[in-house]
Amino acid sequence: MTHDAPSSTPLENLLTEDRHFPPSPEFAAQANAHGDLGAWAAADPESFWADQARELLTWQTPFTEVLDWSGAPHARWFADGRLNACHNAVDRHVEAGHGDRVALSFEGEPGDTSTLTYAELQQQVSRAANALVALGVRTGDRVAIYLPMIPEAVVAMLACARIGAVHSVVFGGFSAEALRSRVEDAEAVLVITADGGYRRGAASALKPAVDEALDPHHHPHGHLDEEAGPTSVRNVLVVRRTGQDVAWVEGRDVWWHEALEAASEQHEPVWVEAEHPLFILYTSGTTGKPKGIFHTTGGYLTQSAFTHLNVFDLKPETDVYWCTADVGWVTGHTYVVYGPLVNGATQVIYEGTPDTPHKGRWWEIVEKYGVTILYTAPTAIRTCMKWGEEIPGQFDLSSLRVLGSVGEPINPEAWMWYRRVIGGDRTPVVDTWWQTETGATMISPLPGVTATKPGSAQTPMPGISIDVVDEEAKSVPNGSGGYLVVTQPWPSMLRGIWGDEQRFKDTYWSRFPGLYFAGDGAKRDADGDIWLLGRVDDVMNVSGHRLSTTEIESALVSHPMVAEAAVVGASDETTGQAVVAFVILRAEYTDRVDGPGEGADVATTLRAHVTREIGPIAKPRSILVVTELPKTRSGKIMRRLLRDVAEHRPVGDVTTLADSTVMDLIASGLDKPTEP
Ligand code: WTA
Repeated sequence: MTHDAPSSTPLENLLTEDRHFPPSPEFAAQANAHGDLGAWAAADPESFWADQARELLTWQTPFTEVLDWSGAPHARWFADGRLNACHNAVDRHVEAGHGDRVALSFEGEPGDTSTLTYAELQQQVSRAANALVALGVRTGDRVAIYLPMIPEAVVAMLACARIGAVHSVVFGGFSAEALRSRVEDAEAVLVITADGGYRRGAASALKPAVDEALDPHHHPHGHLDEEAGPTSVRNVLVVRRTGQDVAWVEGRDVWWHEALEAASEQHEPVWVEAEHPLFILYTSGTTGKPKGIFHTTGGYLTQSAFTHLNVFDLKPETDVYWCTADVGWVTGHTYVVYGPLVNGATQVIYEGTPDTPHKGRWWEIVEKYGVTILYTAPTAIRTCMKWGEEIPGQFDLSSLRVLGSVGEPINPEAWMWYRRVIGGDRTPVVDTWWQTETGATMISPLPGVTATKPGSAQTPMPGISIDVVDEEAKSVPNGSGGYLVVTQPWPSMLRGIWGDEQRFKDTYWSRFPGLYFAGDGAKRDADGDIWLLGRVDDVMNVSGHRLSTTEIESALVSHPMVAEAAVVGASDETTGQAVVAFVILRAEYTDRVDGPGEGADVATTLRAHVTREIGPIAKPRSILVVTELPKTRSGKIMRRLLRDVAEHRPVGDVTTLADSTVMDLIASGLDKPTEP
């Protein structure tokens, strides 16, 4: 694997950022985090984390061991302790007398609402756990969850955790093909899905994708390989959300509501070891095949709860917390399900899109529920900026007191807008850096402690060791850039890539031996604060979602029309990056692009093809038909040059190209763009 040097971005010009927002004395006085937390943790990180694990979690068997790093790069935290994630997220709050507290306030896109108190959530997860057991799901089995953003998604995840089954949530926007490969890789025994969900004002079906993924034979018009054999899935549990007609496979399919009604609401959580797997979550890497990042129980929950409590300054009795992420992504795992529920928070979950039925929907929700803590992605903030500040201006947002950002670098303009327009120039803004692999936040200001700085994630969390290094793994001085690494094991670190030990070592631990390489470029400013500069590998970040260039290239070349493809992430004002594809058509199709308008047809066909292969999020913004691709003498595509073209920049150094005239050819072909 090779890495481009961290590329220059507009953020580089801002390293002289001198705007600071120190916490107000009132905020600092009531904050959960205090200034000496970092020093305490740095003095003895292991005992710091052990204290957090004891204080924030309830253990059935207390641990005596803290960290075992003897099997590096596989860490074991709190390994001789036993606990249950669902018990920590639900039961213990009921036992502590908080059963009447609202855990989830659900807002459906069509405007339907429901609430679940902690006591009601306990009944639901107990019934669901019994239903899973009745379907033969056992401790350690894998369960795929393919649901819209509805309360049942949270219940399903917790029910798995309750019986020690490992959930693998697959984002509802992924295609049948993507679902099938994840189900196969994890050898799931059960899929939990719904008839459909609401999206942009209409019911959109989900179950047909499951049917197609599991049984391609019965879907001759589907797109999966008809030779594909049966999977390990025995049953499909189907939530009724939209009421639309669904095809039914007798003996395999079971209605969720019927299974839960038939089940008892008494269920004793299964106590598991701290290192028992909690979930697998697939994410894009630098090769075509998504990797199953897996996390275990005790360490993951400790860091999730600690960061949620301190980064958002959560007060469980009074705050109303809202994280806009879908449970299909890691942010939904850590900061919708585990962090907030382990901390006993009251939270809002919303099914739909921000502009349905109007562009003020989010702000209406903030006003309606009195949201105090909001956590979202820069893309969403930039989209709202584009729609205009009059829209949030129509709603009462004065309940907000902490604003968070995650998923991609936040540009200082968006940060300032967020603080001023949404936060009324009053709220701290915390930019949190982390990854599916890190499990929980690793770098973020602490509200009430850190003087925040627009655009910078600033400081490692207490107990977390971060460095920015050069090619030789040497720490760079303030004012310089390099690669972001984690230098010490942390509680919520991934424990591996499911079924692929070699890839785990190669991806994260080989670039800088002994250090975890995150794949991100970073800089340290004059104050030593950390700025994230984006990926330095072949991973793109589109609207805060991770996509692999190689995965999209594979999808493109699987179409009969395409001979070769190269994909780059071009910077985009709203989505951070956008997918731009360069394709070479097979000879028999090249004629097609010459006729007027035909190029657009090729693009339309290929965009639809990528949607089918991966999902709509991976669909290229533009597809350029070219006759050559720039390659080095060893045959590696030089994406850097294609990025120059895609971003309308003068093309950089071409001296390493095998054929330096290629870029002229590409540039001259650009008068036939195929942007839809
Ligand atoms: C990027 C999402 C800059 C980064 C939680 C990382 C960020 C990848 C930030 C992980 C941030 C996430 N500033 N970049 N605050 N947060 N990223 O696994 O490139 O979906 O490597 O986890 O998102 O994406 P993932």
